[in-house]
Amino acid sequence: RAADKKWRIGFSQATTLEPWRVQFNKDIKAEAEKQPDVELLIADAEDKTEKQVADVENFIRQEVNALLISPKESAGLTGVVDKAIDAKIPVFVLDRNVDTQRYTQFIGGDNVVIGKAVGDFVVKALGGPGKAAGNVVEIWGGLGTQPAHDRSDGFHAVADKETGLKFLLDKQSADWKQNLAYDIMTTALRNFEKIDLVYGHNDPMAYGAYLAAKDAGREKEIKFVGVDGLPNEGVVWVNKGELAATFLYPTPGAEGLRQAVKLLKGEKVEKTIVLPTMAITKENAPEILKQNGLM
Ligand code: FRU
Repeated sequence: RAADKKWRIGFSQATTLEPWRVQFNKDIKAEAEKQPDVELLIADAEDKTEKQVADVENFIRQEVNALLISPKESAGLTGVVDKAIDAKIPVFVLDRNVDTQRYTQFIGGDNVVIGKAVGDFVVKALGGPGKAAGNVVEIWGGLGTQPAHDRSDGFHAVADKETGLKFLLDKQSADWKQNLAYDIMTTALRNFEKIDLVYGHNDPMAYGAYLAAKDAGREKEIKFVGVDGLPNEGVVWVNKGELAATFLYPTPGAEGLRQAVKLLKGEKVEKTIVLPTMAITKENAPEILKQNGLM
C-alpha cells in the first residue's frame, strides 16, 4: 500500500440474522476504529452461501489487503477461500471453518471442549456421573458447519457414557434459528411425554425450545442449556432461570482484526487461535450482567 493509504480489510459475514453475529460485527467495527491505518469493509451474506461467494469474489476483485471470512457453511465457501489465497490475499477464517487448510489463520472457540463442558453439566444436572438419567433433546445448529458437529461430538463423548440417558431426536437441525427450534420442540413435546433436558447448539435455539415448552405449560419440568453466552441474551435468560446454563463462545471480531493488522505490519501470525469458554449459570450470571452494565 502507498504510505498515505490505509490497509483495506474485507470482512465477509455469513449473516446478521442472529444476535451473536450482530455482536461480532460490533466487535470488529470497534476494533477497526482503534486502528488508524485500517479501512474495514463489511459484506453481509444474508445467510446465503451464493451471496457470500459473490461477496468474497467482490473483495478479491477489489484487491483487499486481507480477507476475513466467517463462513455460512464449510463446503460452499471453500472454493472462494482457495481463490483468495491464489490471488495472494491473506485469509483469516473466523468461527466456522472451510474444507481446506490453505488459509492464513483460523480463529474460533474450541467447540469440542464446549460440547464436553455441556456434557459434564448435563450429567451433573441429571443425577451425576454413573447415575445420570433422563430424556434429552438435542437441537442441532447448521448441519454443514463444524461448530455443530463439534458441539455434538464433544457432548456425546461425555453423555453417551451414561446408560441412563436417552437421546430422543435423530440429528434435528434448526440451523441456529430460534423459530425453527421452537417448531422442533413443539413436535417433540407432542411426541414425548417426558423430556428432562434440551441442549441447543446455541442460545437462540435453547430459548426457542424453552418458549415452545412454556406455551405447552411444560417449561418447569425441563432444563434448557445453550451456547454463546451473550450478556444481553443468553446470560439474561440464565439469570431469569429460563436457561439452566450457557457456555461462552466469544466472537472472534476484535481478535480477527488485530491479527490481520499484525500480519499486514509484517509480523508472523499463528495458524490457529483458540478463544476461551466458561460455564455461565445462576451463580455467575449476575456478576456478568453487572460487568456489562446490564444490572
Ligand atoms: C451465529 C451462530 C452462533 C453460534 C455460531 C456457530 O450465526 O449460530 O449462535 O455460536 O454461529 O458458528
